[in-house]
Amino acid sequence: MAAESGKNWVLTVTAQTPTNIAVIKYWGKRDEDLILPINDSISVTLDPDHLCTTTSVAVSPAFIHDRMWLNGKEVSLSGGRYQNCLRELRSRASDVEDEQKGIKITKKDWEKMHVHIVSYNNFPTAAGLASSAAGLACLVFSLAKLMNVRDDHSRLSAIARQGSGSACRSLYGGFVKWIMGKEENGSDSIAVQLADEKHWDDLVIIIAVVSSRQKETSSTSGMKDTVETSMLIEHRAKEVVPKRIIQMEEAIKNRDFPAFARLTCADTICVLLIDLIKIKAFTFQDNQLRRKMESFQGTPQVAYTFDAGPNAVLISHNRKAAALLLQRLLFYFPPNPDADLNSYVIGDKTILKDAGIQNMNDIETLPPPPEIRDNNPTQKYRGDVSYFICTRPGRGPVVLTDESRSLINPETGLPK
Ligand code: ADE
Repeated sequence: MAAESGKNWVLTVTAQTPTNIAVIKYWGKRDEDLILPINDSISVTLDPDHLCTTTSVAVSPAFIHDRMWLNGKEVSLSGGRYQNCLRELRSRASDVEDEQKGIKITKKDWEKMHVHIVSYNNFPTAAGLASSAAGLACLVFSLAKLMNVRDDHSRLSAIARQGSGSACRSLYGGFVKWIMGKEENGSDSIAVQLADEKHWDDLVIIIAVVSSRQKETSSTSGMKDTVETSMLIEHRAKEVVPKRIIQMEEAIKNRDFPAFARLTCADTICVLLIDLIKIKAFTFQDNQLRRKMESFQGTPQVAYTFDAGPNAVLISHNRKAAALLLQRLLFYFPPNPDADLNSYVIGDKTILKDAGIQNMNDIETLPPPPEIRDNNPTQKYRGDVSYFICTRPGRGPVVLTDESRSLINPETGLPK
C-alpha cells in the first residue's frame, strides 16, 4: 500500500485535450472491442482555446472505488471501453513520489488504488462534435500523467483508441494520421503526427452547429450497420482510401489547398453516400452556396466535411477567404431575432471583425453575395443554424499546472 496511508492525501493532475475533425474519414471497424478500423484516417486537430475537454484526475488512499463525473453529473465507469482504458493504464503505471506531501505510490499499489475523474467539455456533448474523442484522449492523457505511465504519445494513442476510436487522433496537435494497423491485438493501430499546428496555421475552420441535441444514431451503431449492409464499404476501405491517404499527406505537406479541399469534400460525400443514415446531413447543404464557393476565383476556396452528426465543418485556406465565407454563411443563415451576436458566432471573434460584422444589424443588412446579386431574391434559412464556431488548427494535450484550473477539490477529492 502507498506510504503514509494513514493520511488522507489527494494527488491530482489536470489536463486539457483538443477535439479533431477527420478530413479522410474513419468509418467501419474490423474489431468492435479493440476498436480497430478498416482504413487509415487523417484529421485536423482543432484549437483547444475554442473546443476542448478539461479533465482532472485524482488518487487517494481514501477512495473506495473508481468514480467519474462528466459535465457536472456522476456517470458510470462500468462500460467496457472505460474499463479497457483503466486496465491498460494501470498495467503501465510506474512509481510516483511526492516528497513534499510525503506520498509514495509503487507500481504495484496502482492495481489496488482508485481514481476519481472529473471532466468537462466546453461544447455540446454527443452532438457530433467529437466530444468522445477529446474526452477519452483527455482521460487517458491525464491518468497517464497521474500514474507516471512512461509510454510516448503513440503508445497512449493505442490506449485512447480503445475508449473511442477517433480519440487516438486527439493525442497530437496539427495534422494527424491514424494508422489502421495489421496486428490482431491492435498494437500497431496508433496515431502519428504528420505536421504540427504551425505548419499550416492560416487555415480557418468554421463549424455550423445545426443542432446541439444528442445524436439519434451513435457512430458505433451507424458504422456497424454500414459494415454489415453496404457493398461499397469494402471498396472504399481497400481501393479508395489508401490512394486518398497518400494524396492527402502530400497535400498537407505542400499546403496545397485545392488538393486538400477536393479530397476532404470527396471523402465526406463518399461516406455520406455509403451511409444512408447520414443522408439527413444533406439538409444543411445548400448546393447553390457550395457550388458558388467552390468555383469562386477558379480554385476551391472552401473544403467542407461532416462528422457523425449533421453539423457542417467548413475549412477556408486563409483569413480573407474565411471572412468572405462567414459573410455568406450569415447572409444565408441569419440568427433568430432574439439571438445575440456573441453567442451566435463563438471562438475566434477576429474572423467576425474581418467580415466587417460588429452587431446584429450588420448581419441583417449584409448585401447579397456578388454571385447572386443579379438573380431573384434567394431563399434564407433563418434559425436553421444554432451557432457558428470559428477556429483553426490547434495544439495537442497539455497538463494545466495552475491549481485554480483543477476541477477537483484537493481536500475532498470530489468535484469542486
Ligand atoms: N464522452 C464525451 N465526453 C467525455 C469526456 N469529457 N470524458 C469521457 N468521456 C466522454
